[in-house]
Amino acid sequence: MIVERLPEHLHEDAVSLWEEAGLTRPWNDPRADLDRALAGPTSTVLAAVEEGRLAGTAMVGHDGHRGWVYYVAVHPSRRGNGLGRELMAAAEGWVAGRGIPKMQLMVRSTNTGTREFYERMGYAVQDTVVLGKFFDPERQARQSG
Ligand SMILES: CC(C)(COP(=O)(O)OP(=O)(O)OC[C@H]1O[C@@H](n2cnc3c(N)ncnc32)[C@H](O)[C@@H]1OP(=O)(O)O)[C@@H](O)C(=O)NCCC(=O)NCCS
Repeated sequence: MIVERLPEHLHEDAVSLWEEAGLTRPWNDPRADLDRALAGPTSTVLAAVEEGRLAGTAMVGHDGHRGWVYYVAVHPSRRGNGLGRELMAAAEGWVAGRGIPKMQLMVRSTNTGTREFYERMGYAVQDTVVLGKFFDPERQARQSG
C-alpha cells in the first residue's frame, strides 16, 4: 500500500467513498472540496492506493498555525487493518513537515465510534467550541456543519 497525492483518475472513487462513509452533506460539494484542496500549496488530498485501487483518503492542510484533517475514510472492506492509522500518520507527517506543531480535527457529535479511533491516535478533546458561518446566506440558512 502506498500513500500518495490523490491521482485524478481516483477522484470519483474518493467521492463515492466519502458518500458511502456518510461524510458528505447536501450543503457541501465534495468535488469542489477536493478541487480546492488539491489546488493550493497549503493543502492536499492523500490517498492510500492498493493494487491501483483506492483504499482510503485523508484531506489535509494548514492555515500557518494549525494543521487540519478532513475526509478521513477507509474503504469498508479494508477497515480494521491499520490503514486509518497509516493515513493519519501520513497526514501528520505532511503537516509536521511544513513546520506546523499541531493537528486538529472535527468529528460530528453523531459519529461516536470514530471519536475512539482518534483517541487511539493520541487526539484529545479540546476545551473549545467550533463556530462557523457560510458567506452565502442561503447555505448558512440550510445547515450548521
Ligand atoms: C474511522 C476509520 C477511518 C478507521 O479506519 P481503520 O482503517 O478501520 O482504522 P485502523 O484499523 O487503523 O484502527 C486504528 C485503531 O483505532 C481503533 N478503531 C478504529 N475504528 C474504531 C471504532 N469505530 N471504534 C473504536 N476504535 C476504533 C482500532 O481498534 C485501532 O486500535 P489499535 O491500533 O489501538 O489496536 C474508518 O472506520 C472509516 O473510514 N470510517 C468511516 C468514515 C469516518 O467516519 N471517518 C471519520 C470522519 S471524522
